[in-house]
Formats: sequence, C-alpha cells, structure tokens
Amino acid sequence: MSSEPKCLQISPIKNGTVIDHITAGEAFNVLRILGITGTTEERLSVATNVVSRKSERKDIVKIENRELRKEEVDRIALIAPNATINIIRNYLVFEKKGVDIPEILHGVVRCPNPGCITNTREPIQSRFEVTAKGLHCLYCDWYLTEDIAGHII
Ligand code: CTP
Ligand code: ZN
Repeated sequence: MSSEPKCLQISPIKNGTVIDHITAGEAFNVLRILGITGTTEERLSVATNVVSRKSERKDIVKIENRELRKEEVDRIALIAPNATINIIRNYLVFEKKGVDIPEILHGVVRCPNPGCITNTREPIQSRFEVTAKGLHCLYCDWYLTEDIAGHII
C-alpha cells in the first residue's frame, strides 16, 4: 500500500523541443551535447527515470524556444538511440521524429588513442565508422566501445 502519486508530470511547453524516450540516465549527457550549462538562459525541464510504457524507464528533456540542429540530433542518437524529437508549436506536437545514427561520424567523437593523427596538432577532423563492434576510427583502426558519451566532442 502506497500513497505515492501514480504520475508526476512536468508541464507541457508552448514552443520548443521535447526530447522524449531518452535512455534512462542519459539526460545530463544530452544537456552537455546541447551545450546547456548552469548559466544557460533557456527555460528547461529535465525528468529522469520516468516510468514509460515503451521502455522501462526513460529520461525527458524539454527546452523552450529552441529547435535542434542536425549535428546535435546525430550526437543524441549515439547515446539515446530510441529518443524521439518532438517539435512543439503553440502547445501542439508540430513534428515528431526518431533519431538515426549516421553510418560515418565526422568530427563527432574524439579518438581514445593518444597516438591517433586526429589527436595531434594536425587539423584533421575525427572520422569514425559505426559498426556492430563499436565506433571504428578510420585513421588508426581503434575501436571505441565504452563511454561513448564521454568522447563526444
Ligand atoms: N509535450 C509537451 N508539451 C506540449 C506537447 C507535448 O511537453 N505542448 C510532450 C509530451 O509530454 C510528450 C512529448 O511531448 O512527452 C510528445 O507528446 P505526444 O506526442 O503528445 O505524446 P505521446 O503520444 O505519448 O508520444 P510518443 O508516442 O512519442 O510516446
Ligand atoms: Zn584514431
């Protein structure tokens, strides 16, 4: 017997973006990808470990008056492949789309190999191929398999 409320929702927003179905625990990585810090002026709501029908638990990020760039969505896909991006206009869901992990990532993640040419002073953007074994550096053959969020540029 519990008197806990069944659901505690964060408010709908008027205009902006709702990033829904974020893998539980990844909301703060999503904020980092979006460059949102403690001093950001945007109005923001974050819910973590919300109970969801589709997945066991999920995180949600709502940002008012902002729409996301493709580079931002591609980075979010890497850490939250089931996320949906809802564009809200005048309180209605104007557009809803899933995220796709691109086949090749240009300048999206940092190679963990200190000897990789992309980590030298050469002005070379990192380039990774997305494979079942992990992210494969096309310059040094390194496979990035863990802590992808921590390597996102
Ligand atoms: N939302 C919001 N403000 C609005 C409209 C919607 O914050 N003015 C949020 C909802 O709370 C939900 C997300 O945007 O988290 C998507 O809304 P909607 O498509 O109505 O919800 P669902 O049908 O549950 O979405 P899905 O099928 O993607 O789970
Ligand atoms: Zn490399």
